[in-house]
Amino acid sequence: MKPTFKFLVTLAFIITVVFGQPLRDVEIEVKVNELLYQMTLAEKIGQMTQFSGTNKQYEQMIREGKIGSLLNVIGAEENNRIQKIAVEESRLGIPLIIGLDVIHGYRTIFPIPLAAAASWDTVLIRKAAEIAAKEAASAGIHWTFAPMVDIARDARWGRIAEGAGEDPFLGSAIARAQVLGFQGEDLADPLTLLACSKHYVGYGAAEGGRDYNTVDISERTLREIYLPPFKAAVDAGVGTLMSAFNEIGGVPASANQFTLRKILKGEWGFDGFVVSDWNSIGELVVHGIAKNQLEAGVKGLTAGVDMDMEGRCYTTAMEALVAEGTLSEELIDDAVRRILRMKFKLGLFEHPYIDESIQKELILHREHIQTALDLARESIVLLKNENDVLPLNRGKINSIALIGPLADDKDAPLGTWKCEGKQKDVVTVYEGLKNKLGGDVKIIYTKGCDVKGNNRSGFNKAIKAARTADIVVMVMGESADMSGEAASRADLNLPGVQAELINAIAETNKPIVLVLMNGRPITLSNIESKVSAIVEAWHLGIRHGNAVADVLTGDYNPSGKVTATFPRSVGQIPIYYNHKNTGRPGDPDNKFSSKYIDSPSSPLYPFGYGLSYTKFKYTGIKAENNRLTPSDDLIVSVNLKNVGQREGVEIVQLYIQDITGSVTRPVKELKGFQRVTLEAGEQKTVQFRVPVWELGFYDLDMKYTVEPGDFRVMIGGNSFEGLTMDFKVVSLK
Ligand code: BGC
Repeated sequence: MKPTFKFLVTLAFIITVVFGQPLRDVEIEVKVNELLYQMTLAEKIGQMTQFSGTNKQYEQMIREGKIGSLLNVIGAEENNRIQKIAVEESRLGIPLIIGLDVIHGYRTIFPIPLAAAASWDTVLIRKAAEIAAKEAASAGIHWTFAPMVDIARDARWGRIAEGAGEDPFLGSAIARAQVLGFQGEDLADPLTLLACSKHYVGYGAAEGGRDYNTVDISERTLREIYLPPFKAAVDAGVGTLMSAFNEIGGVPASANQFTLRKILKGEWGFDGFVVSDWNSIGELVVHGIAKNQLEAGVKGLTAGVDMDMEGRCYTTAMEALVAEGTLSEELIDDAVRRILRMKFKLGLFEHPYIDESIQKELILHREHIQTALDLARESIVLLKNENDVLPLNRGKINSIALIGPLADDKDAPLGTWKCEGKQKDVVTVYEGLKNKLGGDVKIIYTKGCDVKGNNRSGFNKAIKAARTADIVVMVMGESADMSGEAASRADLNLPGVQAELINAIAETNKPIVLVLMNGRPITLSNIESKVSAIVEAWHLGIRHGNAVADVLTGDYNPSGKVTATFPRSVGQIPIYYNHKNTGRPGDPDNKFSSKYIDSPSSPLYPFGYGLSYTKFKYTGIKAENNRLTPSDDLIVSVNLKNVGQREGVEIVQLYIQDITGSVTRPVKELKGFQRVTLEAGEQKTVQFRVPVWELGFYDLDMKYTVEPGDFRVMIGGNSFEGLTMDFKVVSLK
C-alpha cells in the first residue's frame, strides 16, 4: 500500500467513525491509524504476540518490537522495569499490555465466583471486582483474564467453580457487574483493569464434564444458553474476549469464523480484541485442522483471534505469506488496530508506568477485607436445617467437637486461581469460631482424616471428641486443587474417607452440622440423612472462617441460593432446571416416561434453592395486565411476608414459561430476581417489570422472536416452587 492511499483510507476511516462516536474515541482512532502506518509488518505481528513471564530473550524481543503483551509478571517494580524496555528501547515505544488471572481478588481474596454468584448480589460482586482491579493495577497489571462467563450444566467440570453457574440470565447479570467492576467508569483511570470475558464459547459444555473435551451444541442452544453472558459483557463494554480450547461441532473455538467473525465482530459489533487461550491456536494442529503452527496461525487470525497467547503461531513467517498474497495484510491491520485501540483506551501511552508507592496502601486495605467478609457471608447457602439445629444455641451449648480436614486449613479457602492470595491472610473455621466464642464454649478440634486418601488413623480420636461434645461441626469437602482448570471429577461424593468418617461420627447420635467447602455441587446422597444441618460454604476467600462462624452462631442470617443444581448422583448429569419438557415427561405411574428406574429424576437441591433462619411466605401474585404485546412490559407482583422470628434476606426469583411455540421451550426460564430484606413480621409487595421482548427465542430460521401465545409466570424462592399465573402475548398488529 502506498502512503497516499493509506492517507485516504485513514481519512475515510476517520470520517466514518466520527459519526456517533465520542471525541475521545475519534482521537484514539486517529492515533491508532497514525501509529499503524509507521509500523513494519514484523512490528505488527509483534503486537499480536503474548508471552508468559520474562527472561533475557523476551526482553530482547520486546526491544525489537516482537512482543506486544506479557502475562504473569508480578509486582509493580518488575512490571515497570519491563515496560521501560518497551517504551524506551523499542523503535516505536509502544507500551506492553500486561495481563494476569485476577479471578476473585488479587491479594484480598474473595469467594470463588461460583460462591459469589450464590449471593445473587450484583452490587457487591461489582464492588469485589473493583477492589480486585485496584489492587492488581497498583501492582502494574493492566488486564485481567476475567470474568469467566461460561455456563456450566455439569458439576464434574472443575471450572464450574470459576463461573456463575448454569443460568444465562443470572450469568449475564453477573457478567455485566464484573465487567463494570473491573473496568470502572473510565479505563484510563490507572486503577482499573481491562476485562476479558472467557472462554468464548461453549467451553462449559465439554462432553462428560472432562476439561478440554469435545463440545457439540446446536446453534439454538449456543445462542440461547451459552452466548448471552458474552453478549451482556460486550454490551457492558468489555474490552477483550478469550477464545476457548474446545471445538464446537468440528470447528475449534479458536478457529471459529462463525462465532468470532460472524457473531462477535459482526452481529454484535465488538470493537475490542480477542486473545487466544494458552496456546489454543497452536493446539489447532493437535485438533487436526492445521498441519503446522504457521497454518494454525493463519486459521486463528482468519477466524478473528487478534492476539496469540503463548502459541508462537503469529510469527514473522507470516510476512512471506503476505508477500505471496496468501494472507491479507488487512487482516493483520484489523487485529493490530483492535489491540492498539485498547492500549490507547487504557491510557498506556500517557502513563505506561504505575506509581510504585500505591500498592502499599491499597493491598489488603481495611475496606477490602470488610468487603471480602460481606461477600463471603452472602455466598453461604444453608442447604438443610433439621429441627432448627442452627444457629447454635449459645445458651445451651457448652462444647463443640470441630472435626474435619478443612476445619483449620488455610489453603482451601483461597480456592482455585488464588492469584497473590497468601495463606497467612486466611481465617479458618477453627480460628473464626475461636475468635467468636472465646472462652464461653469449649472447642475440641481434631482433623479426623485427610481430604484425599484412605488414612483412618484419626477416626477414633474424632469419635471420642464427638462423644464428649454437645454438638459436632464437621468441615469437609474439596481442597483448592480439586476444582478449577484441569480438575474434572468423575465421582462427586466427598473425596477420600470423609463420608466414612461422617457415618462413624453419626453412630454417636450427636447432632452433626456439616460445613461444606467445595468448588462445585457435590453429591451428598450417601450422607445427607446422617447430618442435621448442611452449610454450603464453598471456598470463601480470606475471611472464610469469620463468615462461617457468623452463620453458625446466627450473628448472620444466611441468604445464599445455589446457582448450579446439586444432583443426587453423577448419573443424573447433565441436570439443570431450565430443561425441556420432552414428549414423555417423568410420571411415576408410567413406565414409558422420561425417568430412571433406580433414582428419582429430581435433583437433591434445585437451582435457586437455599434456606434462611427465618421463613418467608408468598401470597397474591397479580399482573397489571395479562394481555401484552412484544413491546410491553410484564408488570407482576407478589406479597412477601417474613413469617419467622428474625430479620432476613430473601432472593425472590421470577421464572417464565412460553407454553407453546414453533420450537420447544424450557419448562422454566429465570427472567428476574431481587434481594429483599424484611424484618420479622414485615411484608412487602415485590414488583417485577419484565420487557416482553426479553421472553423470546430463536425460531426455526434462527431469528430472535417473541411469538404470540400463552405464557406462565412463576414467582418464588427457588426454581421448583412458587406462585404462578398465566398471561397472553398478542401480536403488535
Ligand atoms: C486458562 C485461562 C487462563 C490462561 C492464562 C489457561 O490455561 O484456560 O483461563 O486465563 O491459562 O493463565
